[in-house]
Amino acid sequence: MSVALAQRPALASDPALRPVISFHGVGKTYPSGTVALRDIDLAIYQRDFVFLVGASGAGKSTLVRLLIRDEPASSGRIFVDGQEVTRMSRRRLPKLRRKFGIVFQDYKLLATLTVGQNVAFALQVTRPGQRHMREKVEETLWIVGLEDKIDKFPDELSGGEQQRVAIARALVTRPRIFLADEPTGNLDPDTSWGIVQLLLQINHRGTTVLMATHNREVVDLVRRRVIAIEGGRVIRDEQEGQYLREGETTV
Ligand SMILES: Nc1ncnc2c1ncn2[C@@H]1O[C@H](COP(=O)(O)OP(=O)(O)O)[C@@H](O)[C@H]1O
Ligand SMILES: [Mg+2]
Repeated sequence: MSVALAQRPALASDPALRPVISFHGVGKTYPSGTVALRDIDLAIYQRDFVFLVGASGAGKSTLVRLLIRDEPASSGRIFVDGQEVTRMSRRRLPKLRRKFGIVFQDYKLLATLTVGQNVAFALQVTRPGQRHMREKVEETLWIVGLEDKIDKFPDELSGGEQQRVAIARALVTRPRIFLADEPTGNLDPDTSWGIVQLLLQINHRGTTVLMATHNREVVDLVRRRVIAIEGGRVIRDEQEGQYLREGETTV
């Protein structure tokens, strides 16, 4: 199978031409011996919206974990914003992670806190003033369409609304890169579509978005960049791609 790379990673010195994220020959073998990623080369630019697609076990979540250094790479080099993640000292990891907003399939909201408090929680690291904090939380809940739910508790919301709160919490720090790992995995098709629209809107505001998914319907409707992985390898990288290439029956 031929590998079509939309953009080759380049070590450009001009920051405007530099990818926000690049992988150079990256491999990951877990201590169990499972090879989760092999020889990954890719470059993602600031305005990109990328679907990372592949069957369960293909390596999507591992790629996300390597990017935020939740797991170390076994080989190769990863750069974020011109800094080498694969060589970063532990001391610098909090700063790296603040560049990312992250949401998962399960919303991981704190059940004893209101919607507003859940979102404000993410701001505590940066410690803005109390008034500024309230403004940021309200503004961000407005972006996700939940400004009227600020005093509700998570269990008073639907699944789609809870995922929107998780998105607001990830967004409130205004991250440069938004990572979503199967964000629609627990949602029905209509609700999933709303979540993807929201991610597209976030991307439109200038944030890089990487969404790992096996939601074929969504990928085929949106027609944005698609990076397909199979058995830990990139098998396809296309602008305006689809979940499957013509003739393919599985990813
Ligand atoms: N912590 C881990 N330890 C050992 N193997 C793992 C671990 N996490 C994932 N794997 C394995 O790595 C491969 C890729 O998994 P993953 O990245 O979770 O794929 P995906 O997100 O595409 O479903 C699978 O074979 C999986 O079983
Ligand atoms: Mg996964």
